[in-house]
Amino acid sequence: MSGTRLKAAILIVSQTASEDPSTDKCIPILKEVFTNLGNDQWDVAISEIVPDSILHIQNFIRTHTDGETPVNLIITSGGTGFAVKDVTPEAVTPLIDRHAPGLVHGMLASSYSVTPFALMSRPVAGVRKSTLILTLPGSPKGAKENLEAVLKLLPHACVQAAGAESRPLHVGGVKKLEADAGVSSTSSSSGASRGPHHHHHHDHGHSHGHGGGHAIPRAHTKPEDRPQSNDPNAGPTRRYRSSPYPMLAVEDALKLIAEQTPSPTVQKVPVDMSLTGSVLAEDVNATESVPAFRASIVDGYAVKIPSTGKFRKGVYPVALVSHAQAGDVQELKEGEIARITTGAPLPPGADAVVMVEDTVLRSQTDDGKEEKEIEILADDVQAGENVREVGSDVKAGDTIMRKGEGITVVGGEFGLLASVGTAEVSIYKRPVVGVLSTGDEIIPHDRPGPLKLGEVRDTNRPALLTSIRGHGFEAIDLGIVSDKPGALEQTLRTALRTVDVIITSGGVSMGELDLLKPTIERSLGGTIHFGRVNMKPGKPTTFATIPYKSSAGARATKAIFSLPGNPASAVVTFHLFVLPALHLQAGISPVGLPRVRVKLEGSVRMDRQRPEYHRAVVVARGDGEGLVASSTGGQRSSRIGSFKGANALLCIPAGEGSVEGGVVEALLMGRSRLR
Ligand SMILES: *[C@@H]1O[C@H](CO)[C@@H](O)[C@H](O)[C@H]1NC(C)=O
Repeated sequence: MSGTRLKAAILIVSQTASEDPSTDKCIPILKEVFTNLGNDQWDVAISEIVPDSILHIQNFIRTHTDGETPVNLIITSGGTGFAVKDVTPEAVTPLIDRHAPGLVHGMLASSYSVTPFALMSRPVAGVRKSTLILTLPGSPKGAKENLEAVLKLLPHACVQAAGAESRPLHVGGVKKLEADAGVSSTSSSSGASRGPHHHHHHDHGHSHGHGGGHAIPRAHTKPEDRPQSNDPNAGPTRRYRSSPYPMLAVEDALKLIAEQTPSPTVQKVPVDMSLTGSVLAEDVNATESVPAFRASIVDGYAVKIPSTGKFRKGVYPVALVSHAQAGDVQELKEGEIARITTGAPLPPGADAVVMVEDTVLRSQTDDGKEEKEIEILADDVQAGENVREVGSDVKAGDTIMRKGEGITVVGGEFGLLASVGTAEVSIYKRPVVGVLSTGDEIIPHDRPGPLKLGEVRDTNRPALLTSIRGHGFEAIDLGIVSDKPGALEQTLRTALRTVDVIITSGGVSMGELDLLKPTIERSLGGTIHFGRVNMKPGKPTTFATIPYKSSAGARATKAIFSLPGNPASAVVTFHLFVLPALHLQAGISPVGLPRVRVKLEGSVRMDRQRPEYHRAVVVARGDGEGLVASSTGGQRSSRIGSFKGANALLCIPAGEGSVEGGVVEALLMGRSRLR
């Protein structure tokens, strides 16, 4: 760290201060601690105030840990108490890769020496990626004492967390570390007698570079103090017993998905049938005019207005015939006329068309097959009469479609592009979605023969593949992945090469999460953004992103959605969470399912805690008075039958009792049917 200072960020978690920053006392006090005790090693460049919200806290932390320029230290103040609103530990804990209980003990011990109420705080400390995170209490005094207690120790930890090699740092042993930090060991006499290679059990996290001497390794923490393992090789006894994720509201989960979804990428593609469902990334200008030639809009006779400027009625010879078919047409001379059909090109030289109703046949050719002479009854024929001019529909160079407009299944947009001979357009690349099921008990849905005990036919994968394709996205079947160690990682790695979004289903109930979480976080270097959502069905819905570098060196972010294993939950959460992400990536707007208001027929029981997405059939009322919804019945999340005929999800709020009749919001999933 020679010369460069360590970067620190301060996050104040307080509803009051977030509404009125002038009420905050902590930022100046904490900055002062850095100035007074920081030994000129710190640069406190960032400070921010957020309300008591898991989403806000996590956003701040991720911004300063996961981005291009991570800070070395984040300290938060506030939200560590026992009140219901206090969520800082719940926000920070899931983000920590490696916990630092020693720092927690240190902070608590120092405050405890001042007041026993120090124990009423729930601090968290640890490392995310290369950043050390500490949560301090909300009171300026408490925050100051806690920071003062540990600040001098932090540079060493931060430098190690940032990835510096530990060996050079340790030359001189713990004595030098203490001297550098300006602190002294409480057992300095025994420490001194041991010389530079310290032999007592001071844990610096180093694993090499100290020529022996650690006789009996002794940990500083008791097993019950340690965070739960996320090691994929850990057995079932080390598994999480309850979900380690905070519960997010559906809106917050959707916000996170929107933030983490990569912006659309632009692609030039030929205009062909595969375009349907795409959104234009650039205006389209007509390269040709429509019509491309002067055409007659009636059946009749093309005439040339004489140089005198006035056309006279009379008998004219039929010199030419022009049909609506491609080919050369001879030039029309003054005093001649040409028979012409609707849509056919005017012969060169012709100025107007006289409709057949204004003419009389005078004579035929000798064989009786063709007209020879025609009498024109009209006298006041104007130039341009009954002629569709070049470019009167679309002029070459006109913008015919705008960036952001879609090529829909209705067909009209494709027709427009085709009409002017557009060869190539720029569109947003539609994400490719891979779907896999997990679990040794899952068998392909079409495996013949009766089920053995415990076997379950794979319902979710085919259902999800159908739904993805139905929404116009390419879906790749990644098959069923066994629970054997390594199988999931291998499948995900292979899939990342070809797909943009991966949906797994079946692997997010408690226990199985132990396989998915470490595979994403440890093996693939990804981030789990949420693992629980306050909704019914679909509570264990999990969303993660994985950084990906192709063999050609291109970088991309790929999303993984782990949907609940219950079939109805999987289909609901696909529509609610995955579809908006696909829309965003494809530049489709508005994203997600259309939201409408419907009149509920019958009643639906509310869930006390969780808002429910209730499968229903929505129909348009015959009298044109809007939409009516009726439940598809039992909504148990394993009951895929509740989807039969369902074309909507009713948004039923949490509460006591039932929603009876009245108007509720609904998300339309499929085509509405007419009663
Ligand atoms: C289309 O035409 C407009 C206006 O003439 C021009 O500004 C734009 O650059 C053109 N766009 C393309 C894609 O050629």
